[in-house]
Amino acid sequence: MTNQGELFTETGPGEDFPVPPPLASHGPARVIAMCNQKGGVGKTTTTINLAAALAEYGRKVLIVDFDPQGAASAGLGVNANELDETIYTLLMRPRSDVREVIQHTAVPGLHIVPANIDLSAAEVQLVGEVAREQALTRVLRPVMDDYDVIIIDCQPSLGLLAINALTAAHGVVIPLEAEFFALRGVALLIETIEKVQDRLNPKLKVDGILATMVDLRTLHSREVIQRVDEAFGDQLLDTKIARTVKFPDASVAAEPITVYAPTHPGAHAYRRLARELVARGAAA
Ligand SMILES: Nc1ncnc2c1ncn2[C@@H]1O[C@H](COP(=O)(O)OP(=O)(O)OP(=O)(O)O)[C@@H](O)[C@H]1O
Ligand SMILES: [Mg+2]
Repeated sequence: MTNQGELFTETGPGEDFPVPPPLASHGPARVIAMCNQKGGVGKTTTTINLAAALAEYGRKVLIVDFDPQGAASAGLGVNANELDETIYTLLMRPRSDVREVIQHTAVPGLHIVPANIDLSAAEVQLVGEVAREQALTRVLRPVMDDYDVIIIDCQPSLGLLAINALTAAHGVVIPLEAEFFALRGVALLIETIEKVQDRLNPKLKVDGILATMVDLRTLHSREVIQRVDEAFGDQLLDTKIARTVKFPDASVAAEPITVYAPTHPGAHAYRRLARELVARGAAA
């Protein structure tokens, strides 16, 4: 516990990053891909809670559920299994309208394009299409002016859907579980991001690496963060997300933690992440 102060800052409300001022008007959206091909690192949890925190700050936010498991949809109370129109139909039918598929959530200002298992077919079906990497960019184009931030919750893979997300995005946030093996995949992810920058989306940036499931009490967690800090420096976000059972509890309740337990440190941490990303110019 002794040297925590060097690496961990308090995630309480208020300090460090200023509360973003209200926006006079909305759009155009900055698009963030939540990406890591490793499973279970906190992509969906971060998508939902960062989006909810930005919405609390008056931002209009759209989540794109880009995982056939539909966890982001379920985590916001949208039962995508019953839906005929999802991100899949938008990708496969060029003349479909994203506005007819967007669902409102219980959080004011937070909307979602849902996904269900149908999306698992898209990867194969898109391969033969013209401009297959730009399918998601095309889907989002009509609503770019309606939102301040669009967050794409990627599935754990680096396949064609991930390439679509990176092509549609302005920035990438990489959630990284604070354990040693987590570092292994990041080099490959960065390589993929560089390829997309090179060939498809020169403006793409890494907005930051987010340490998740951090346990302040373990030396292990602190060492991993030290290593990420050495390897990635500035790209490691100052905000860290602690491990707490409140996150799985909130997803069972199908609510963001900012609604389920608004005063819990986990809720404050995601509000702080929202303020940090705004301060870095990664969100409106
Ligand atoms: N900070 C945290 N503390 C404790 N549990 C967490 C935390 N963040 C996420 N979890 C839990 O860990 C599991 C995986 O998280 P999540 O679904 O967000 O990861 P993911 O990267 O989206 O996974 P996948 O690759 O399968 O899409 C979930 O059960 C979630 O509730
Ligand atoms: Mg997920």
